Amino acid sequence: MTRSLTLVDELVLTLLNEESGYFRQVPGWNLNCAIVGAALAELSLMSRLDTDLDSLIFLDGTATGDPALDPVLYRIAASPEQRNAQYWIERLAPEAESLIDLTLARLCDLKILQHHDGDFWSLAGSAWRMGLHTGSEVGTAVEFVKTRISRAIFNNEIPDPRDVIIICLIDTCDVLRFIFELDEESEQRVEDICRMDLIGRAIADAVGENIAGPLFRRSALAKVIPVVKLRKLLLSKHVRSGNLPAILAELHAEYGPVFEVRPPFADNMICLVGPETNHWVHRNGRMHLRARDYLEDFEKVYGGVGLLPALDGADHFRYRKSIQPAYARARLEEQLDEFFAHARNEMTTWQVGETLPAVGMCRKLVNSAMSPLSVSIDSQDIVDEMHKFKDRALKTHVGRTLPKFMLKTPGMKRRARLVGEVVDRVLSVHTPAQRAGCPRDLADELLTMHSNDRQFLPESNLRFVLSAPLIASMYVGDQLSFIAHAMVSQPEFYEKIRAEADALFADGDPDREALTGPGTDITRRFIMEVMRMHPIVPLSVRNVANACEVEGYELPEGVRVFIATTATHYMEDLFPDPFKFDIDRYKAPRREHLGTGYAPYGLGTHTCLGSRLTELYLATNLLMMAHYFTLEIAPRNYKLRISPFPSMSPNRKLKFHISERRHALPA
Ligand code: HEM
Repeated sequence: MTRSLTLVDELVLTLLNEESGYFRQVPGWNLNCAIVGAALAELSLMSRLDTDLDSLIFLDGTATGDPALDPVLYRIAASPEQRNAQYWIERLAPEAESLIDLTLARLCDLKILQHHDGDFWSLAGSAWRMGLHTGSEVGTAVEFVKTRISRAIFNNEIPDPRDVIIICLIDTCDVLRFIFELDEESEQRVEDICRMDLIGRAIADAVGENIAGPLFRRSALAKVIPVVKLRKLLLSKHVRSGNLPAILAELHAEYGPVFEVRPPFADNMICLVGPETNHWVHRNGRMHLRARDYLEDFEKVYGGVGLLPALDGADHFRYRKSIQPAYARARLEEQLDEFFAHARNEMTTWQVGETLPAVGMCRKLVNSAMSPLSVSIDSQDIVDEMHKFKDRALKTHVGRTLPKFMLKTPGMKRRARLVGEVVDRVLSVHTPAQRAGCPRDLADELLTMHSNDRQFLPESNLRFVLSAPLIASMYVGDQLSFIAHAMVSQPEFYEKIRAEADALFADGDPDREALTGPGTDITRRFIMEVMRMHPIVPLSVRNVANACEVEGYELPEGVRVFIATTATHYMEDLFPDPFKFDIDRYKAPRREHLGTGYAPYGLGTHTCLGSRLTELYLATNLLMMAHYFTLEIAPRNYKLRISPFPSMSPNRKLKFHISERRHALPA
């Protein structure tokens, strides 16, 4: 492909840190000034603007066709007064975020960058041919830009005007020294180059003038974080039902986006709630928040250090990238036959006339396929005990709702030993001869990672990572129990889902196209709506690693924050009539789930890696339940109550009565 990049594209590419999958840590204001400066410089090179020492002159308003440049051009064209470059940089800097987003999207469209879940970017593998500016050499786009820059800095070649600007912009961001090794002489050369260009100088001035400003203003104007009145909190009708997202949405209406809850006998909780804080966490969390601290204790329970949910920065990105294929939905799609066989096998244990605890029944159904498909073992005999152990470990070491010694009772010690039992089972079936010819599973990927880099994934972490699928089945099972409850308790939806299920299974088991096509539209939107109203992971916990300001509130370094990712699910502005169960929210043109307001799988860098796989597990399990059985809620007058800790699930009183088997269960 031959095509020229704009200066904004080049700046974004050069700032990309391939190890961390994000930009080099450039203070926001500097980055914003540099991005706007790049847009102004590109518009000058395109003869839409001209600059002299005192002013920036508008020449031509013809659209450039570049979505990041045209809005800047129109803003300047519409201004009645002539201003200088520094004015426009400062004026437009607050809007630079959208320029960055547009540029990233364009670079992905051009297949120069690749976007990964969790808002990580990496260079796409394909070679890229640079067009107008550097002839016809082949290499990655970043290599081209870096080569040009290094020639100008180190070979004393006379730089092209574009190179002058790009060097000046990167210098403004203060990251040249991370990209190149600069000695005194080359630093002097950079300074000389930067003096060659007016726009470049204007940017540097804008940054210099403002460098102390935003920081200073932050502490002077920071608002005081309001403290929630506990009495008021306890009076909320949602406390009785245990609906944490709804409680937090209610508090948001009264206290705003940042508030503190001071529960008795527990640590104070600073909560970030609402669409703005969700957006902030998704976008900026990686620079200010850290996951490691709150999971430190929990890691010890499993004897590991540096487990995926507790990693941050470059290590975290590397881990996610290496393990991503193992969580791909395609793996399950390729093994649907086995999936159906395992799930049906579990369903043969459901006898007509019996009444089963909803949560346990759903967890076991999910685990019946998840355990053999992800780690190639059957663990139905011990999975209940494993879930009890994990539940207690989270309550004692993460939620801190129980004292730590509660994990040391004789029963819990016995369950702790089962983690070792799971690992032994997995290892015993993962010898080369036994795996020959088998499709690779999660355990294969993990064991390969372990043998390739024993520091990165040490043996001490295998206990956790190899037993994690059994833990994941607990989460999926809990979500499934909410979904099954919603189906069975709403006859009109039960009918519709059953109709979809019967049509799907009419001629044998459905294939992947049938499961994702229009024939499961209602089931899929139904599941989305249950996950809005009853997300099982209602919030994320982090520690502030770098002091920051969120919505005008200062969060000092070291404090623990509770990010109420799903409180937005109950906000009228985003989901009108939020307590109404309405599966049409997800249809065009409403599509209320788009954006960071819908977050059942979390936000930002730690966004769930198994989300697409989970969607398929949930849909297939629900459709099978609807096809093979008629279930009733027991007791009949049951009203949904939620156990909010450690993750949300229907309370233990919910049971399903198996009143009919509708179809025979083929082996
Ligand atoms: C209904 C089921 C599930 C829900 C609601 C869910 C939700 C979430 C959420 C909210 C997070 C982010 C936590 C945080 O920010 O601290 C997360 C992380 C994660 N989830 Fe899920 N999850 C589910 C099932 C699964 C399954 C089945 C798998 C694997 C097969 C999985 C793999 C992961 C992993 C590996 C992470 C950590 C990602 C990271 O730290 O970068 N999840 N999940």
